Amino acid sequence: MNPAGRQVAGEVCNDCLVGFGVERIRQDFPALQVRVHGKPLVYLDNAATSQKPQVVIDRITRYYLSENSNIHRGVHFLSDLATQAYESTRDRVRQFLNAAHDREIIFTRGTTEGINLVAHSFGRSRVRAGDEIVISAMEHHSNIVPWQILCEEKGATLRVIPVNDAGELLLEEYERLLCDRTRLVAVTYVSNALGTVNPIKPMIATAHRRGIPVLVDGAQAAPHLAVDVQELDCDFYAFSGHKLCGPTGIGILYGKADLLESMPPYQGGGDMISAVTFEKTIYNSLPYKFEAGTPHIAGVIGLGAALEYVQRIGLPRIAAYEADLLAYGTELLSAIPGLRIIGTAREKASVLSFVLDGIHAHDVGTILDHEGIAIRAGHHCAMPVMKRFGVSATARASLAFYNTREELEALAKGLHKVIEVFA
Ligand code: ALA
Repeated sequence: MNPAGRQVAGEVCNDCLVGFGVERIRQDFPALQVRVHGKPLVYLDNAATSQKPQVVIDRITRYYLSENSNIHRGVHFLSDLATQAYESTRDRVRQFLNAAHDREIIFTRGTTEGINLVAHSFGRSRVRAGDEIVISAMEHHSNIVPWQILCEEKGATLRVIPVNDAGELLLEEYERLLCDRTRLVAVTYVSNALGTVNPIKPMIATAHRRGIPVLVDGAQAAPHLAVDVQELDCDFYAFSGHKLCGPTGIGILYGKADLLESMPPYQGGGDMISAVTFEKTIYNSLPYKFEAGTPHIAGVIGLGAALEYVQRIGLPRIAAYEADLLAYGTELLSAIPGLRIIGTAREKASVLSFVLDGIHAHDVGTILDHEGIAIRAGHHCAMPVMKRFGVSATARASLAFYNTREELEALAKGLHKVIEVFA
Protein backbone atom coordinates (compact mmCIF):
# COMPACT_ATOMS: atom_id res chain seq x y z
CA MET A 1 0.00 0.00 0.00
CA ASN A 2 1.14 3.54 -0.60
CA PRO A 3 0.98 6.07 2.27
CA ALA A 4 -2.58 7.02 1.36
CA GLY A 5 -3.61 3.37 1.88
CA ARG A 6 -4.33 2.92 -1.83
CA GLN A 7 -3.28 -0.39 -3.27
CA VAL A 8 -1.08 -0.18 -6.34
CA ALA A 9 -0.44 -2.66 -9.16
CA GLY A 10 1.37 -5.81 -8.20
CA GLU A 11 0.39 -5.63 -4.53
CA VAL A 12 -1.97 -8.33 -3.36
CA CYS A 13 -3.95 -7.57 -0.25
CA ASN A 14 -4.27 -10.95 1.51
CA ASP A 15 -6.83 -9.72 4.03
CA CYS A 16 -9.01 -8.58 1.15
CA LEU A 17 -10.12 -12.10 0.26
CA VAL A 18 -11.76 -12.63 3.63
CA GLY A 19 -15.54 -12.50 3.28
CA PHE A 20 -15.55 -11.31 -0.35
CA GLY A 21 -19.08 -12.68 -0.74
CA VAL A 22 -19.19 -13.22 -4.48
CA GLU A 23 -22.60 -14.94 -4.37
CA ARG A 24 -24.09 -11.87 -2.71
CA ILE A 25 -22.37 -9.58 -5.23
CA ARG A 26 -23.73 -11.61 -8.15
CA GLN A 27 -27.28 -10.90 -7.02
CA ASP A 28 -26.67 -7.21 -7.74
CA PHE A 29 -26.31 -7.96 -11.48
CA PRO A 30 -29.61 -8.86 -13.19
CA ALA A 31 -27.91 -9.93 -16.44
CA LEU A 32 -25.98 -12.64 -14.59
CA GLN A 33 -29.32 -14.42 -14.01
CA VAL A 34 -29.97 -14.75 -17.78
CA ARG A 35 -30.01 -18.25 -19.28
CA VAL A 36 -28.34 -18.81 -22.65
CA HIS A 37 -29.38 -21.78 -24.81
CA GLY A 38 -31.11 -23.14 -21.69
CA LYS A 39 -27.93 -22.94 -19.61
CA PRO A 40 -26.85 -20.47 -16.94
CA LEU A 41 -24.86 -17.62 -18.45
CA VAL A 42 -21.13 -17.75 -17.73
CA TYR A 43 -20.07 -14.23 -18.63
CA LEU A 44 -16.32 -14.11 -19.34
CA ASP A 45 -16.22 -11.17 -21.75
CA ASN A 46 -15.62 -8.44 -19.21
CA ALA A 47 -12.71 -6.83 -21.05
CA ALA A 48 -15.19 -6.01 -23.82
CA THR A 49 -17.77 -4.65 -21.38
CA SER A 50 -18.84 -5.41 -17.84
CA GLN A 51 -22.36 -6.16 -16.64
CA LYS A 52 -24.26 -3.43 -14.77
CA PRO A 53 -25.51 -3.64 -11.19
CA GLN A 54 -29.13 -2.80 -10.40
CA VAL A 55 -28.10 0.41 -8.60
CA VAL A 56 -26.64 1.80 -11.86
CA ILE A 57 -29.71 0.82 -13.87
CA ASP A 58 -31.95 2.38 -11.19
CA ARG A 59 -29.93 5.59 -11.04
CA ILE A 60 -30.18 6.12 -14.81
CA THR A 61 -33.91 5.35 -14.69
CA ARG A 62 -34.41 7.84 -11.84
CA TYR A 63 -32.64 10.55 -13.85
CA TYR A 64 -34.94 10.02 -16.83
CA LEU A 65 -38.05 9.59 -14.64
CA SER A 66 -37.72 12.62 -12.43
CA GLU A 67 -34.56 14.66 -13.04
CA ASN A 68 -34.26 14.86 -16.83
CA SER A 69 -33.03 18.30 -17.83
CA ASN A 70 -30.08 19.95 -19.53
CA ILE A 71 -27.15 21.01 -17.36
CA HIS A 72 -25.39 24.34 -16.78
CA ARG A 73 -27.97 26.26 -18.86
CA GLY A 74 -31.22 26.26 -16.91
CA VAL A 75 -32.45 28.58 -14.20
CA HIS A 76 -35.00 26.04 -13.06
CA PHE A 77 -35.19 23.33 -10.42
CA LEU A 78 -34.65 20.29 -12.65
CA SER A 79 -31.67 21.83 -14.42
CA ASP A 80 -30.10 22.55 -11.05
CA LEU A 81 -30.73 18.98 -9.95
CA ALA A 82 -29.19 17.51 -13.11
CA THR A 83 -26.23 19.91 -12.90
CA GLN A 84 -25.59 18.93 -9.29
CA ALA A 85 -25.71 15.20 -10.12
CA TYR A 86 -23.42 15.73 -13.12
CA GLU A 87 -20.85 17.83 -11.27
CA SER A 88 -20.88 15.65 -8.18
CA THR A 89 -19.88 12.74 -10.42
CA ARG A 90 -16.93 14.80 -11.61
CA ASP A 91 -15.84 15.10 -8.00
CA ARG A 92 -16.35 11.38 -7.44
CA VAL A 93 -14.12 10.65 -10.46
CA ARG A 94 -11.51 13.04 -9.05
CA GLN A 95 -11.53 11.06 -5.80
CA PHE A 96 -11.47 7.75 -7.69
CA LEU A 97 -8.28 8.82 -9.52
CA ASN A 98 -6.97 10.91 -6.63
CA ALA A 99 -6.57 13.84 -9.02
CA ALA A 100 -5.77 17.20 -7.47
CA HIS A 101 -8.63 19.22 -9.01
CA ASP A 102 -12.11 18.67 -10.48
CA ARG A 103 -11.10 20.78 -13.48
CA GLU A 104 -8.64 18.06 -14.48
CA ILE A 105 -11.54 15.63 -15.13
CA ILE A 106 -13.02 15.80 -18.65
CA PHE A 107 -16.09 13.75 -19.58
CA THR A 108 -15.68 12.00 -22.93
CA ARG A 109 -17.47 9.26 -24.87
CA GLY A 110 -14.88 6.74 -23.71
CA THR A 111 -11.17 5.92 -23.75
CA THR A 112 -11.05 6.21 -27.54
CA GLU A 113 -12.37 9.75 -27.50
CA GLY A 114 -10.02 10.70 -24.65
CA ILE A 115 -7.00 9.57 -26.65
CA ASN A 116 -8.29 11.28 -29.81
CA LEU A 117 -8.79 14.48 -27.81
CA VAL A 118 -5.13 14.46 -26.76
CA ALA A 119 -3.95 13.55 -30.28
CA HIS A 120 -5.95 16.40 -31.82
CA SER A 121 -5.43 19.08 -29.23
CA PHE A 122 -2.03 18.39 -27.66
CA GLY A 123 -0.69 16.55 -30.70
CA ARG A 124 -1.65 19.02 -33.40
CA SER A 125 -0.34 21.98 -31.45
CA ARG A 126 2.96 20.39 -30.31
CA VAL A 127 4.06 17.82 -32.88
CA ARG A 128 6.14 18.92 -35.90
CA ALA A 129 7.82 17.20 -38.84
CA GLY A 130 10.65 14.99 -37.63
CA ASP A 131 9.17 14.55 -34.12
CA GLU A 132 8.40 11.14 -32.64
CA ILE A 133 5.58 9.56 -30.62
CA VAL A 134 6.39 6.40 -28.64
CA ILE A 135 3.75 3.70 -28.14
CA SER A 136 4.08 -0.01 -27.37
CA ALA A 137 3.64 -3.19 -29.40
CA MET A 138 0.67 -4.25 -27.26
CA GLU A 139 -1.54 -1.20 -27.79
CA HIS A 140 -5.23 -1.38 -28.65
CA HIS A 141 -6.01 0.20 -32.04
CA SER A 142 -7.41 3.21 -30.20
CA ASN A 143 -3.92 3.97 -28.89
CA ILE A 144 -2.28 3.39 -32.28
CA VAL A 145 -4.47 4.87 -35.00
CA PRO A 146 -4.94 8.41 -33.55
CA TRP A 147 -1.13 8.72 -33.34
CA GLN A 148 -0.68 7.33 -36.84
CA ILE A 149 -3.14 9.91 -38.21
CA LEU A 150 -1.26 12.65 -36.36
CA CYS A 151 2.14 11.43 -37.56
CA GLU A 152 0.95 11.25 -41.17
CA GLU A 153 -0.45 14.77 -40.98
CA LYS A 154 2.67 16.22 -39.38
CA GLY A 155 5.44 14.17 -40.97
CA ALA A 156 6.29 12.70 -37.57
CA THR A 157 7.27 9.10 -36.78
CA LEU A 158 5.63 6.47 -34.60
CA ARG A 159 8.16 4.43 -32.57
CA VAL A 160 7.16 1.16 -30.94
CA ILE A 161 8.43 -0.44 -27.71
CA PRO A 162 8.85 -4.17 -28.43
CA VAL A 163 7.62 -7.02 -26.19
CA ASN A 164 9.24 -10.32 -25.20
CA ASP A 165 7.68 -13.76 -25.69
CA ALA A 166 5.83 -13.49 -22.38
CA GLY A 167 4.21 -10.24 -23.48
CA GLU A 168 6.30 -7.91 -21.29
CA LEU A 169 7.66 -4.62 -22.55
CA LEU A 170 11.42 -4.49 -23.18
CA LEU A 171 12.27 -1.59 -20.93
CA GLU A 172 15.86 -1.17 -22.13
CA GLU A 173 14.53 -0.77 -25.66
CA TYR A 174 12.02 1.74 -24.34
CA GLU A 175 14.79 3.86 -22.82
CA ARG A 176 16.73 3.68 -26.08
CA LEU A 177 13.69 4.92 -28.06
CA LEU A 178 13.34 8.11 -26.02
CA CYS A 179 15.23 11.05 -27.50
CA ASP A 180 15.11 14.81 -28.05
CA ARG A 181 12.55 14.31 -30.83
CA THR A 182 10.06 12.38 -28.62
CA ARG A 183 7.00 14.53 -27.96
CA LEU A 184 4.82 12.01 -26.10
CA VAL A 185 4.75 8.45 -24.75
CA ALA A 186 1.31 6.79 -25.02
CA VAL A 187 1.14 3.39 -23.34
CA THR A 188 -1.46 1.03 -21.96
CA TYR A 189 -1.51 0.17 -18.27
CA VAL A 190 -3.08 -3.28 -18.83
CA SER A 191 -3.13 -5.01 -22.22
CA ASN A 192 -6.62 -6.05 -23.34
CA ALA A 193 -5.20 -8.84 -25.50
CA LEU A 194 -2.54 -10.28 -23.16
CA GLY A 195 -3.47 -9.09 -19.69
CA THR A 196 0.04 -7.74 -19.05
CA VAL A 197 0.20 -5.06 -16.35
CA ASN A 198 2.91 -2.66 -17.50
CA PRO A 199 5.28 -0.97 -15.02
CA ILE A 200 3.96 2.43 -15.93
CA LYS A 201 5.20 4.27 -12.85
CA PRO A 202 8.91 3.76 -13.62
CA MET A 203 8.16 4.23 -17.33
CA ILE A 204 6.60 7.62 -16.59
CA ALA A 205 9.58 8.59 -14.43
CA THR A 206 11.96 7.62 -17.26
CA ALA A 207 10.07 9.78 -19.76
CA HIS A 208 9.85 12.69 -17.33
CA ARG A 209 13.64 12.69 -16.80
CA ARG A 210 13.73 13.75 -20.45
CA GLY A 211 10.81 16.16 -20.08
CA ILE A 212 8.47 13.94 -22.14
CA PRO A 213 4.78 13.77 -21.11
CA VAL A 214 3.02 10.42 -20.82
CA LEU A 215 -0.54 9.38 -21.66
CA VAL A 216 -1.80 6.19 -20.00
CA ASP A 217 -4.57 4.14 -21.62
CA GLY A 218 -6.35 2.99 -18.48
CA ALA A 219 -9.30 1.26 -20.19
CA GLN A 220 -8.41 -2.22 -18.90
CA ALA A 221 -6.77 -1.08 -15.67
CA ALA A 222 -9.59 1.00 -14.22
CA PRO A 223 -11.88 -1.99 -13.48
CA HIS A 224 -9.12 -3.95 -11.74
CA LEU A 225 -6.46 -1.74 -10.13
CA ALA A 226 -6.70 1.25 -7.81
CA VAL A 227 -5.16 4.20 -9.60
CA ASP A 228 -3.60 7.31 -8.11
CA VAL A 229 -2.75 9.72 -10.91
CA GLN A 230 -0.73 11.96 -8.59
CA GLU A 231 1.37 9.06 -7.38
CA LEU A 232 1.86 7.76 -10.94
CA ASP A 233 2.55 11.33 -12.05
CA CYS A 234 1.02 10.58 -15.48
CA ASP A 235 0.13 13.59 -17.62
CA PHE A 236 -3.02 12.07 -19.14
CA TYR A 237 -5.10 9.07 -18.09
CA ALA A 238 -8.07 7.83 -20.13
CA PHE A 239 -10.68 5.21 -19.23
CA SER A 240 -14.24 4.13 -20.08
CA GLY A 241 -17.27 3.80 -17.84
CA HIS A 242 -18.72 0.69 -19.44
CA LYS A 243 -15.87 -1.61 -18.42
CA LEU A 244 -16.35 -0.46 -14.83
CA CYS A 245 -20.02 -1.36 -14.32
CA GLY A 246 -21.14 1.96 -15.83
CA PRO A 247 -23.04 2.79 -19.03
CA THR A 248 -21.57 2.78 -22.53
CA GLY A 249 -20.78 6.08 -24.24
CA ILE A 250 -19.20 7.73 -21.23
CA GLY A 251 -15.53 7.99 -20.30
CA ILE A 252 -12.96 10.10 -18.58
CA LEU A 253 -9.88 11.94 -19.66
CA TYR A 254 -7.72 13.10 -16.76
CA GLY A 255 -5.08 15.68 -17.67
CA LYS A 256 -2.74 17.76 -15.53
CA ALA A 257 -4.30 21.22 -15.24
CA ASP A 258 -1.31 23.14 -16.63
CA LEU A 259 -1.19 20.94 -19.73
CA LEU A 260 -4.95 21.13 -20.33
CA GLU A 261 -4.83 24.91 -19.85
CA SER A 262 -2.20 25.23 -22.55
CA MET A 263 -4.06 23.04 -25.08
CA PRO A 264 -6.49 24.33 -27.72
CA PRO A 265 -10.12 23.06 -27.67
CA TYR A 266 -10.88 19.72 -29.30
CA GLN A 267 -14.39 20.57 -30.54
CA GLY A 268 -16.25 23.85 -30.82
CA GLY A 269 -19.86 24.38 -29.72
CA GLY A 270 -22.05 25.23 -26.78
CA ASP A 271 -20.74 25.14 -23.20
CA MET A 272 -17.06 25.32 -24.24
CA ILE A 273 -17.22 29.10 -24.67
CA SER A 274 -17.53 32.07 -22.37
CA ALA A 275 -18.18 34.65 -25.14
CA VAL A 276 -18.71 34.45 -28.90
CA THR A 277 -18.68 37.17 -31.54
CA PHE A 278 -18.17 36.70 -35.26
CA GLU A 279 -14.70 38.16 -34.80
CA LYS A 280 -13.53 36.06 -31.90
CA THR A 281 -14.50 33.40 -29.35
CA ILE A 282 -13.25 33.36 -25.79
CA TYR A 283 -13.13 29.81 -24.53
CA ASN A 284 -14.58 28.61 -21.27
CA SER A 285 -12.34 27.59 -18.38
CA LEU A 286 -11.45 23.98 -17.58
CA PRO A 287 -12.95 21.46 -17.74
CA TYR A 288 -15.75 22.94 -19.88
CA LYS A 289 -13.36 24.06 -22.61
CA PHE A 290 -13.20 20.37 -23.60
CA GLU A 291 -16.90 19.52 -23.22
CA ALA A 292 -18.65 21.00 -26.26
CA GLY A 293 -22.36 20.37 -26.69
CA THR A 294 -24.92 18.65 -24.48
CA PRO A 295 -23.03 15.78 -22.88
CA HIS A 296 -24.21 12.26 -22.02
CA ILE A 297 -25.81 13.44 -18.76
CA ALA A 298 -27.49 10.13 -17.94
CA GLY A 299 -24.21 8.37 -18.69
CA VAL A 300 -22.27 10.61 -16.33
CA ILE A 301 -24.82 10.11 -13.55
CA GLY A 302 -24.82 6.34 -14.16
CA LEU A 303 -21.02 6.34 -14.04
CA GLY A 304 -21.21 8.09 -10.67
CA ALA A 305 -23.43 5.29 -9.34
CA ALA A 306 -21.06 2.67 -10.80
CA LEU A 307 -18.01 4.23 -9.15
CA GLU A 308 -19.85 4.43 -5.84
CA TYR A 309 -20.76 0.74 -6.17
CA VAL A 310 -17.22 -0.36 -7.06
CA GLN A 311 -15.70 1.80 -4.32
CA ARG A 312 -18.04 0.26 -1.77
CA ILE A 313 -16.60 -3.18 -2.59
CA GLY A 314 -13.11 -1.66 -2.83
CA LEU A 315 -10.58 -2.04 -5.64
CA PRO A 316 -7.93 -3.63 -3.37
CA ARG A 317 -10.43 -6.40 -2.52
CA ILE A 318 -11.43 -6.70 -6.18
CA ALA A 319 -7.77 -6.95 -7.26
CA ALA A 320 -7.01 -9.64 -4.68
CA TYR A 321 -10.11 -11.68 -5.56
CA GLU A 322 -9.42 -11.44 -9.30
CA ALA A 323 -5.73 -12.35 -8.84
CA ASP A 324 -6.86 -15.57 -7.16
CA LEU A 325 -9.35 -16.26 -9.99
CA LEU A 326 -6.75 -15.57 -12.65
CA ALA A 327 -4.25 -17.95 -11.02
CA TYR A 328 -6.92 -20.66 -10.83
CA GLY A 329 -8.01 -20.10 -14.44
CA THR A 330 -4.39 -20.20 -15.61
CA GLU A 331 -3.87 -23.52 -13.81
CA LEU A 332 -7.03 -25.04 -15.33
CA LEU A 333 -6.29 -23.88 -18.87
CA SER A 334 -2.62 -24.87 -18.71
CA ALA A 335 -3.69 -28.47 -18.09
CA ILE A 336 -5.69 -28.64 -21.36
CA PRO A 337 -3.79 -30.48 -24.10
CA GLY A 338 -3.00 -28.35 -27.17
CA LEU A 339 -3.90 -25.09 -25.43
CA ARG A 340 -1.34 -22.27 -25.49
CA ILE A 341 -1.83 -19.19 -23.37
CA ILE A 342 -0.84 -16.00 -25.22
CA GLY A 343 0.44 -13.54 -22.64
CA THR A 344 2.31 -15.08 -19.72
CA ALA A 345 3.74 -11.95 -18.12
CA ARG A 346 4.63 -12.08 -14.41
CA GLU A 347 2.28 -9.16 -13.75
CA LYS A 348 -1.14 -9.84 -15.25
CA ALA A 349 -4.72 -8.82 -14.66
CA SER A 350 -8.02 -10.42 -15.61
CA VAL A 351 -7.23 -11.76 -19.10
CA LEU A 352 -6.79 -15.37 -20.29
CA SER A 353 -6.02 -15.23 -24.01
CA PHE A 354 -5.32 -18.55 -25.70
CA VAL A 355 -5.19 -20.62 -28.86
CA LEU A 356 -6.11 -24.27 -29.29
CA ASP A 357 -4.06 -26.39 -31.71
CA GLY A 358 -5.79 -26.66 -35.09
CA ILE A 359 -9.04 -24.99 -33.95
CA HIS A 360 -9.93 -21.44 -34.96
CA ALA A 361 -10.71 -19.05 -32.12
CA HIS A 362 -14.11 -18.26 -33.63
CA ASP A 363 -15.04 -21.95 -33.52
CA VAL A 364 -13.96 -22.05 -29.87
CA GLY A 365 -16.18 -19.04 -29.15
CA THR A 366 -19.17 -20.48 -31.00
CA ILE A 367 -19.05 -23.88 -29.31
CA LEU A 368 -18.58 -22.29 -25.88
CA ASP A 369 -21.59 -20.06 -26.58
CA HIS A 370 -23.73 -23.18 -26.96
CA GLU A 371 -22.67 -24.05 -23.43
CA GLY A 372 -23.80 -20.61 -22.22
CA ILE A 373 -20.21 -19.36 -21.95
CA ALA A 374 -19.49 -15.89 -23.35
CA ILE A 375 -15.90 -15.16 -24.36
CA ARG A 376 -14.43 -12.97 -27.10
CA ALA A 377 -12.67 -14.41 -30.15
CA GLY A 378 -10.69 -12.43 -32.69
CA HIS A 379 -7.87 -9.92 -32.79
CA HIS A 380 -9.28 -7.87 -29.89
CA CYS A 381 -8.62 -4.60 -31.76
CA ALA A 382 -4.92 -5.26 -31.27
CA MET A 383 -3.80 -6.69 -34.62
CA PRO A 384 -0.09 -5.77 -34.22
CA VAL A 385 0.27 -7.77 -31.00
CA MET A 386 -1.48 -10.76 -32.62
CA LYS A 387 1.11 -10.56 -35.40
CA ARG A 388 3.91 -10.37 -32.79
CA PHE A 389 2.72 -13.71 -31.39
CA GLY A 390 2.25 -15.26 -34.84
CA VAL A 391 -1.53 -15.70 -34.56
CA SER A 392 -4.40 -14.00 -36.36
CA ALA A 393 -6.82 -14.41 -33.46
CA THR A 394 -7.11 -15.74 -29.93
CA ALA A 395 -9.97 -16.85 -27.74
CA ARG A 396 -10.13 -14.61 -24.70
CA ALA A 397 -11.79 -15.15 -21.34
CA SER A 398 -11.71 -11.98 -19.29
CA LEU A 399 -12.68 -11.84 -15.64
CA ALA A 400 -14.57 -9.56 -13.30
CA PHE A 401 -15.08 -9.61 -9.56
CA TYR A 402 -18.48 -11.29 -9.96
CA ASN A 403 -16.99 -14.35 -11.67
CA THR A 404 -16.41 -17.55 -9.73
CA ARG A 405 -14.07 -20.54 -9.67
CA GLU A 406 -17.06 -22.69 -10.75
CA GLU A 407 -17.41 -20.58 -13.89
CA LEU A 408 -13.76 -21.19 -14.72
CA GLU A 409 -14.33 -24.90 -14.24
CA ALA A 410 -17.27 -24.61 -16.66
CA LEU A 411 -14.93 -22.90 -19.15
CA ALA A 412 -12.38 -25.72 -18.85
CA LYS A 413 -15.13 -28.33 -19.30
CA GLY A 414 -16.43 -26.40 -22.33
CA LEU A 415 -12.95 -26.38 -23.85
CA HIS A 416 -12.72 -30.16 -23.49
CA LYS A 417 -16.00 -30.33 -25.45
CA VAL A 418 -14.51 -28.10 -28.15
CA ILE A 419 -11.55 -30.49 -28.45
CA GLU A 420 -13.89 -33.49 -28.67
CA VAL A 421 -15.90 -31.87 -31.48
CA PHE A 422 -12.71 -31.39 -33.52
CA ALA A 423 -11.10 -34.76 -32.57
N1 ALA B 1 -11.45 -3.08 -26.23
C1 ALA B 1 -12.48 -3.99 -25.86
C2 ALA B 1 -11.99 -5.42 -25.81
O1 ALA B 1 -10.84 -5.64 -25.58
C3 ALA B 1 -13.71 -3.84 -26.67
O2 ALA B 1 -12.76 -6.32 -25.99
